[in-house]
Amino acid sequence: MSGRMFTRSLCQLQKLCTSSGVKRGVVGALRPGFHDRCYASIPQPAAASVSSLNQAELAKFAAIADSWWDAEGPFKPLHVMNPTRLAFIRSTLCRHFGKDPFSVRPFEGLKFVDVGCGGGILSEPLARMGASVTGVDAVDKNIKIARLHADLDPVTSSIEYRCTTAENLVEEQKKFDAVLALEVIEHVADPAEFCKSLSALTVSNGATVISTINRSMRAYATAIIAAEYILHWLPKGTHQWSSFLTPEELVLTLQRASISVEEMAGFAYNPMTGQWSLTDDIGVNFIAFGIKNSE
Ligand SMILES: C[S@@+](CC[C@H](N)C(=O)[O-])C[C@H]1O[C@@H](n2cnc3c(N)ncnc32)[C@H](O)[C@@H]1O
Repeated sequence: MSGRMFTRSLCQLQKLCTSSGVKRGVVGALRPGFHDRCYASIPQPAAASVSSLNQAELAKFAAIADSWWDAEGPFKPLHVMNPTRLAFIRSTLCRHFGKDPFSVRPFEGLKFVDVGCGGGILSEPLARMGASVTGVDAVDKNIKIARLHADLDPVTSSIEYRCTTAENLVEEQKKFDAVLALEVIEHVADPAEFCKSLSALTVSNGATVISTINRSMRAYATAIIAAEYILHWLPKGTHQWSSFLTPEELVLTLQRASISVEEMAGFAYNPMTGQWSLTDDIGVNFIAFGIKNSE
């Protein structure tokens, strides 16, 4: 994938973001509020902190936690997309941190946190690429499955898994070179507060990578109607269309959290090969790389 592809998408976004202020305030209006209660099995956040937890969303993941590593199960789409999202992560983070993308362990010496890590589908390859990885998830069962699976390989057994939230890590004053939250923001109670927590966890000039689904008509038709109701790739009700963010909204939300989005790409599915690839079409699934502004 060429740098030009990313640049073009970003230019289009910047135009959208700066035009007429129409998009201002949209993100804040997406969600009616956030739940104060924590998901039953997780540590309570400090009283004063805002919770990113959405109980209904967490219950969905708890119900299917056993199938994280079933390559034909409900997480099959994440397994199939993983090489493509890792290609984006490898390319953007190696460029940002001045690492050799052709090295076997390009992320050696870097500290990453995988927020909403689920069963560890992303955390494990990041650890194999040399990163010192902390994986956190709000669902205790996910963390237990992730731990068991990571322990099968001495390289991934170094991953630190914790059942907690980004905001709790902020309370603990943790900092990471790169903060990744893939396919999580559409499941949190308050995307703006969630982005602020991700930013607070990132060192100055560190990296943030977020992937999610665009709130477009095409996403409604493909990511919900086709994926959940026709192809049965995902359990029905996995995604709420109204919880999706458009790329402009994500860029603005991150900007307000002191993260400048530098590159963005879409994911395209080829029904003939069953594979995903990176594209400049950010109309449905997309991924963004940003840099935390200097403090
Ligand atoms: C669609 S899965 C994505 C898993 C993983 N990031 C991946 O892409 O392979 C979303 C995960 O986010 C977790 N999650 C949702 N809200 C969360 C929150 N506020 N804090 C931490 N984890 C959360 C869920 O429990 C679930 O494991």
